[in-house]
Amino acid sequence: MSESGLSLSVFCVLGTEKGDEVAGPEMSLVCLTDFQAYAREHLSKSTRDFIEGGADDSVTRDDNTAAFKRIRLRPRYLRDVSEVDTRTTIQGEEISAPIGIAPTGFHCLVWPDGEMSTARAAQAAGICYITSTLASCSLEDIVTAAPEGLRWFQLYVHPDRQLNKQLIHRVESLGFKALVITLDTPVCGNRRYDIQNQLRRNLTLKDLQSPKKGNSLPYFQMASISTSLCWKDLSWFQSITRLPIILKGILTREDAELAVKHNVQGIIVSNHGGRQLDEVLASIDALTEVVAAVKGKIEVYLDGGVRTGNDVLKALALGAKCVFLGRPILWGLACKAAGRSLRSIDT
Ligand code: FNR
Repeated sequence: MSESGLSLSVFCVLGTEKGDEVAGPEMSLVCLTDFQAYAREHLSKSTRDFIEGGADDSVTRDDNTAAFKRIRLRPRYLRDVSEVDTRTTIQGEEISAPIGIAPTGFHCLVWPDGEMSTARAAQAAGICYITSTLASCSLEDIVTAAPEGLRWFQLYVHPDRQLNKQLIHRVESLGFKALVITLDTPVCGNRRYDIQNQLRRNLTLKDLQSPKKGNSLPYFQMASISTSLCWKDLSWFQSITRLPIILKGILTREDAELAVKHNVQGIIVSNHGGRQLDEVLASIDALTEVVAAVKGKIEVYLDGGVRTGNDVLKALALGAKCVFLGRPILWGLACKAAGRSLRSIDT
């Protein structure tokens, strides 16, 4: 799989839509770092910082990409590669390639259509889109925008169980195919730029204060993530949903063994793009021990620092069934927005 292969086509889909003027940047964008540079140039400072930021010294954020570059390939030749089929399955559903969209919040900061555009791009590319609890479009609008797309829902567990239950039943009835529970946010990471930019206050005021009319659920505030979630609570989630449960944020053999013991269906090896606890292992460095611990009993996925086709290949070779991209999707959306009046959250 080359850098300019399928992963780039997702970004071209994000960057253009039928009827759009395409005199924009896409001809010169040949790899994801080009999209990053373009997005950096065109986004407001606080949005750029929100997307790029890591926790504390951003050691893990930077190591996520650097660790991939420390791994070398052992190429084997004289194999027939005249026909390449990148299709695979995740949780029994076919996708066009082992690449998907990691959950990230607030896509409307980057492009007014926000998650609706992301969903359309995922559907067009035939890949899975994990929609965040902190999506800035309603789940109903996202589903309407791309009714045929494969979607999983990422849950930040709220302290109020009934709210979780209502939300899970709502995503079930909307056709989401799996529940991804994020584990690595018992407290929010210390993101210095967001604090300096007073981002949280701005997000709440400008983007999420008033839930859409007809939305039966109260708005999930960023602060309202359970700090008491434990392994024993998983059985409650299993009792209220038939969706496969996937745990996002596992980095160790010990937790991988516990995940299998608790009968979940999948793991995403992830450190939240280095935005939560800093100085933990790079995702790709944690993958091998998680895969070994799981012993093939459940599917293992990975996110964090995936930027090229070679990165995808390395993760697959080390045992991941699929990888997910976080920041690059937002860069793609930003390029879509280029040349138009961007919503700015700068005050
Ligand atoms: C995230 N991430 C994230 N994770 C999650 O479970 N729920 C969320 O709402 C968000 N929101 C979010 C916003 C932004 C701006 C970023 C950059 C990340 C983490 C995300 O799912 C994923 O773990 C990382 O982004 C993967 O790393 P890369 O691809 O960004 O290097």
